[in-house]
Amino acid sequence: MSMQPWFTDAKLGIFVHWGIYAVDGVQESWSFYDDIVPHERYMSQLERFTGAKYDPAAWADLFARAGAKYAVLTSRHHDGVALWDTAYGDLNLGKDYIGPYAEALREKGLKVGLYYSHSDWNHPDYASTRKPGRPPEQEDNRYSEVAAEDEDLDAWERFIAYRDGQIRELASRYRPDLMWFDGEWDRSEEQWRIPELAALIRSYSPEVVFNARMLSEGDYATPEQGAPIVPPDGPWELCLTINDSWGYQHHDHNHKSLSQLIRYFTETIGGGGNLLLDVGPMEDGTIPPPQVERLEGLGEWIRRHADAVYGTGRGLPAGHHYGPSTLSADRRTLYLTVYDIPRAEIGVRGLATKVRRVTVLGTGTELAHRVVGGLHEAVGVLWIDPPSSADLDPHATVLALELDGELELYRGSGRF
Ligand code: GLC
Repeated sequence: MSMQPWFTDAKLGIFVHWGIYAVDGVQESWSFYDDIVPHERYMSQLERFTGAKYDPAAWADLFARAGAKYAVLTSRHHDGVALWDTAYGDLNLGKDYIGPYAEALREKGLKVGLYYSHSDWNHPDYASTRKPGRPPEQEDNRYSEVAAEDEDLDAWERFIAYRDGQIRELASRYRPDLMWFDGEWDRSEEQWRIPELAALIRSYSPEVVFNARMLSEGDYATPEQGAPIVPPDGPWELCLTINDSWGYQHHDHNHKSLSQLIRYFTETIGGGGNLLLDVGPMEDGTIPPPQVERLEGLGEWIRRHADAVYGTGRGLPAGHHYGPSTLSADRRTLYLTVYDIPRAEIGVRGLATKVRRVTVLGTGTELAHRVVGGLHEAVGVLWIDPPSSADLDPHATVLALELDGELELYRGSGRF
C-alpha cells in the first residue's frame, strides 16, 4: 500500500502514554514484567486511577498549538489495561477514554492514532506459547512465554480471539487514521496473524496507516529514541520522550530543552521524517506543566517557520550545509537551518542551481550572497552574509534560498 500523503505532510505528532502506571509514576508495564514493582501493587493502581481532570478538548487544543497534525494514544499497553469500555478481557477502566479523544482531535482537524500493544502480559491466555526460534540463552519470562513442552495452542487461539475482538471494537468505533503497534517482538508474524489483523482493521478504516511494528504490513520505519544518523529512505517517524519516560514518572525532571527539541524536530523533518513527541499525562489526565511549556514553545517556533516545515520534503544530504534543511514541494526553495550564531559567512557547497535571493525566514531580511570558485562541472561555494543579531532566532534561524529552477546538486569529488 502506498503511504497516505497526510502522514508525510504532518511533520509533528504527539504520542500520549496514559495508563494506570501514572498513578504511582512507575514505568509502564515493564515495571511488573521486570519484577521492579510487585504485580499486585502494579495492578492496584487500577482502583486508584481517577482520570478526574480528563479533558481531551484541552489536549487537542494544546497539540494543535504545538503544530502537530496527529496524535497517538495508548489504547492498551503491554499491561493489558484498556482505555475504553471493551467487552473483551477483564482489564479496563470501566469508561471510554478513546471516543472523546478521537472526537476532540477530529474537531481540531488532527488525525487520530491509536497505539495498541500486540503483547498483553496480563491476559491469562497470553503466556501459552513461545516465539519459534527463540534463542535458548534468552531467559523466558512468566508473563510472556512458556517452555516448549507446556505450550497450549487452544489458549493461544483464545488470545487471538480476544485480540481480534478488541481490535474490531477500536476499528469500528473510532475509525483510526493510524494504528501504532508495539510489542511485536514476543511472537512471530505468523503467530500474530499479521495479514488477517491488517485486513480486519482495513475493513473499517481502509486508509489506515501502520507503523513498522505491524511487520509485513508496516507502512513506515519506526526508529525509537535515537535520531537515525543516515535517514531511512522511505517514510519514517522518530518517537521520542520529552524527558526520559514514556509515561508520567514523578522523579523524572530530565526534560529535553526547547532548543534540543527544535534540533530533533528540524533534523527529523530535514531527513524526511516525522517527529512523534511523547507526553505522559498524570493519572488525572493533566499534562505536566514542563511538558506543556515545551509543546507550546515548539509550536511558536514552528509558526514562525511554517514555510520551512509544512509542505516541504527532505532537504540536502549531509556534506552540503552544516545543519539540516528542507525543500519546498516545487523544489525551488531551499530552507537552511542554522543553529549557532554565525561568526562569518555561511557556506553552502554543491548547489548546481543558481540562487536568486536569500532571506531570513520570519523577518524577511535579505542577505547578500555570492558564489566563489568552481571549475568545469564542479560548482563553487555559495557564501551567504551572516544575519545580524536582530535576525537570529533564539533556537534556530532558517534561511530561505530562492532558486532559479528546481534544485540540482553537484555530488562529485572536484576532479575529472
Ligand atoms: C517500547 C516500550 C514501550 C513504549 C514504546 C514506545 O517498545 O516497550 O514501553 O511504549 O517503546 O515506542
